[in-house]
Amino acid sequence: QRPSRLVVTIDGPAGSGKTTVSKMLAHRLGYRYLDTGALYRAVAVAAQQGGVDPADGAALAQLCQGIDLDLQEGGDGLRVLLNGEDITGRLRAPAISLLASTISARPVVRRFLLTTQRSIGAQKGLVAEGRDMGTVVFPEAEAKFFLDADPHVRACRRYEELQAGGDGPSLDSVEEQMVQRDRNDTTRSVAPLKPAVDSLRIDATHLTPEQVIARMMTHIESKR
Ligand code: DC
Repeated sequence: QRPSRLVVTIDGPAGSGKTTVSKMLAHRLGYRYLDTGALYRAVAVAAQQGGVDPADGAALAQLCQGIDLDLQEGGDGLRVLLNGEDITGRLRAPAISLLASTISARPVVRRFLLTTQRSIGAQKGLVAEGRDMGTVVFPEAEAKFFLDADPHVRACRRYEELQAGGDGPSLDSVEEQMVQRDRNDTTRSVAPLKPAVDSLRIDATHLTPEQVIARMMTHIESKR
């Protein structure tokens, strides 16, 4: 008998390995993959382009009204179109990481993206990664994971990714920025980063992505 298709959520802090694991898990299950961090990053790019002050709620509301976001699956991963323009290459810049974290604390931005995310999730068969997937966006998800790792290990991973991209901030500055983002993301009043009560927590500090996937698959199988 064919099991029903699930929404699987993966939440966790920056650098915990969510993206690698979410893509692999989606591939394994034959599901689509949704990177919700990319949506917050896209709004940050729009705010930067428009010179919008993240503290100005009215300006942010107006900005969101004029935003059309489109995610397209390309051969090299997900591409993000902002009002028709492909901005994928700009999403990972350190300044955008920080701005995304800042604007993600604004209720108007979260409301705007909640609608976007739920409409993408309406069709089941989705692995969604972010900060509030299991707690807020997909509370009915049939399997929820919270992925974490030692902060220094997370900073080293992020540092290596940025080096590979030809960008070159120091390890210290990457770690400092990550700690700041963690603080923003866990202490904001709307949809803070925290494990859903019904999530399986996995500490990936000493695990390979394959080992994380193996634990996830066991949990998913147990639910079916
Ligand atoms: O996952 P990421 O590092 O690409 O996310 C960038 C920022 O976006 C993160 O610091 C907080 C915000 N974010 C969020 O608030 N909720 C999500 N579901 C995903 C990301």
